[in-house]
Order: sequence, then structure tokens, then C-alpha cells
Amino acid sequence: MPGGSALLGETQKMVLGTNWKLPVENVCGDGYHLGWAHAGAMSAVQSMDLTGLNVGNSGVDLDGGLSVAGMNGHMVLSALDGVSGYAFYPDPKPILEYLEANRQTVIDRLGEVRGKQVWGAQVNITIFPNLQLLPGLNWFRVYHPKGPGQIEQWTWAMAENDMLEAVKTQILENQCLTVGLAGLFDNDDGDNLAACTEQSRGWRTAQMDVYTNMALGRSGKREGFPGDIAAGLVSEHNQRYFYRRWQEHMMAETWAEVPTYNINSLTAQEAEHA
Ligand SMILES: [Fe+2]
Repeated sequence: MPGGSALLGETQKMVLGTNWKLPVENVCGDGYHLGWAHAGAMSAVQSMDLTGLNVGNSGVDLDGGLSVAGMNGHMVLSALDGVSGYAFYPDPKPILEYLEANRQTVIDRLGEVRGKQVWGAQVNITIFPNLQLLPGLNWFRVYHPKGPGQIEQWTWAMAENDMLEAVKTQILENQCLTVGLAGLFDNDDGDNLAACTEQSRGWRTAQMDVYTNMALGRSGKREGFPGDIAAGLVSEHNQRYFYRRWQEHMMAETWAEVPTYNINSLTAQEAEHA
């Protein structure tokens, strides 16, 4: 919306026993873990469809979302229904009314696809290497590495300035319910990320490669979008680009050696609505 967005409430700080790359990987592209890792949380708060993802992952609609990567490590995972960002609100009605009342304003400003399909949908945005934000679930987060096996995670709630105060309050409360210090989803992820970090230190695990081949070779350009794009929220497309970017940084002797690429970058005309 034209009024922009702002962070709400206090900075919520939490120390987790995980390597910093794992939470970034978890959010940048891993829709697959939702119905398994968060089955209990989803049972408690899910009120709308999110590309068919549900407890147990018994179904998924790969046409209902995009995995967008290949932009210097920055990534987007987006549903395309214009409302599912609020799928994990027990009562999304006030926010759905806000979306409906302002939809045309956003279409006029950002075009049909972004206004109708992306604004309001579940959207995970990653700014490489350690900043992530999710419009919809409405959290904004930075991961500060504190060593090879520990991070300090800073989380804020986030809302559009044009929203009613009552809607902003609902967003802050739902963010605390779902992620952050006592959040249902973050407690699931925190345990798993710490366990993955610990297990990866084992001798046998260290002999094995990470297997991230889901949807390999099934990406390309989509009209009106930048990046190399794979279908759906369930693939390992974005994870591959994240680790590739990290490797590019690790292998470079100087900043000048870090490659720059923005695959399928938009034309000036397309960017007017991007
Ligand atoms: Fe998660």
C-alpha cells in the first residue's frame, strides 16, 4: 500500500543452538516441512487453504505458487491466491476485509499479477544472507551468527501503515502466537534446527552430501517476474540457490571475485510494476 509498512512492538530476541544457514534455508524455500514439522500448530491455527498444504502434506497444488531465485542469493517463495498470507490466523476476517477494500489500489500501483495474486498471499522473502520477512504472517527477522552452532534471532511484527489499529493489534498477537519467543511454529523449528546442527557434527553424517535435488531441472522464466523460477512452494530450488550463493562467497578471495547475476531481470517497462 502507498503508506508503506512499519515494525510493531518490541524486538523479540532468542538464542538458538543452530548454524545460521539452517533457519534461512528453512524459510527461503522449504514449504515441504509445514505439514510435518508444524502439524500441531497448523491444527490449532489454520483457517484457510495454502496451496493445498495441510497436516501430513497429503496434497499440494504446484500451480498455486512460485519459488523465485537466481538474484544474487535473494529469494521469494510466493503463493498466488492473494489471501493465504493469513491462512494461519484463526480469525482472518478483519484482514480479509482490509485486503478486499484496498485490492484495487494495489492493482493500480503494482499491476494485476502483484495486486491480485501476490499481495495478501503467503510470501516468504529472503534478502541474502540473513534477513527474512513474511508479509501475511507479518514478521521481519534478522539472524545474527554467534559462532558455528549458535545464532541470536531478532524478530519483529510488521504491518502496513494503512491498516486499522485493531488489525495491527491482531497482527502483533498472531505473530506472537505463531513465531517468536513463544510461537507455536518457532518452537517446532527451533528444536529441529538445533537437532539438524547437532547431528551434522557426527562422523557418519560428515561423510555424506546434502541432498537437495527436489525439482532439479524444472525451472525457468515466468512472464512478468525476474529470476529463475520453479513451480510451487514445495521444491528445493531456492535452497540450491542459497547454498550456491554462500559457496560463491566462501570461494572468493576478494569481494571483486563474488559473481553478480540477476537471472531474467525485468525490462524497464516491466519494472515499473515490480
Ligand atoms: Fe517452519
